[in-house]
Amino acid sequence: MSIEPPLPDVVEVDSEVTLRRSFDTPPEVMHSLIHRNLEHLGRFLPWALPTYDIEGAKAFAQMKREAWNESGEQGFSIYFKDEFVGAVGMRGFDSPVRAATIGYWLSEHAQGNGVMTRSVSALVRLAFVTYGLNQVIIKAAPTNTRSRAIPERLGFTETGLERQMSKNVHGELLDLVIYSLLRSEAAGRVF
Ligand SMILES: CC(C)(COP(=O)(O)OP(=O)(O)OC[C@H]1O[C@@H](n2cnc3c(N)ncnc32)[C@H](O)[C@@H]1OP(=O)(O)O)[C@@H](O)C(=O)NCCC(=O)NCCS
Repeated sequence: MSIEPPLPDVVEVDSEVTLRRSFDTPPEVMHSLIHRNLEHLGRFLPWALPTYDIEGAKAFAQMKREAWNESGEQGFSIYFKDEFVGAVGMRGFDSPVRAATIGYWLSEHAQGNGVMTRSVSALVRLAFVTYGLNQVIIKAAPTNTRSRAIPERLGFTETGLERQMSKNVHGELLDLVIYSLLRSEAAGRVF
């Protein structure tokens, strides 16, 4: 599948935050940051395992490259003041109901600066304005207050709960609170 217009290689969010295709970040750099954040990320994400190694980072980059070209799944690395600090991705360009889902993570040391809220805001803009999608969805575990604060800050509506549909590195099944923003709700608002 090809996406029109083509997915951007770089999104300049503002003077401090830039998104670049995730597979353009060297696997060594990706590995280093994730490795330093295993405990922080593993509380809510299933893939931040102690076994995560440089080969895993290379395989991830290859997978993202293929996804970008073949399914239009966007995976961006986030740079804050030119430093690689995390990732944000959006999938669903090929959804028959034009609904995209956004996921994200940030290094522990980069939290508290609005980097993710600003990055997600830029992807919402891209989804509605550039690609004419109808809905953007974000899901977060009930206890993940920092993650839930992002869609809440951006005016998403809480629409439901998926029971035990996620897992952390400890093998615990987690519920997911669903947040949604419709194109009609975003109209006239600044993202
Ligand atoms: C979820 C996660 C990305 C949230 O990070 P975060 O730093 O809290 O989110 P933001 O970057 O949007 O920053 C928001 C904070 O910056 C502040 N802020 C500063 N400038 C801001 C701005 N311009 N816009 C918005 N917020 C701003 C906010 O007030 C908020 O402050 P607080 O920390 O006192 O609450 C991060 O905690 C994380 O990666 N966790 C582990 C992985 C994970 O859970 N991923 C999500 C799975 S669903």
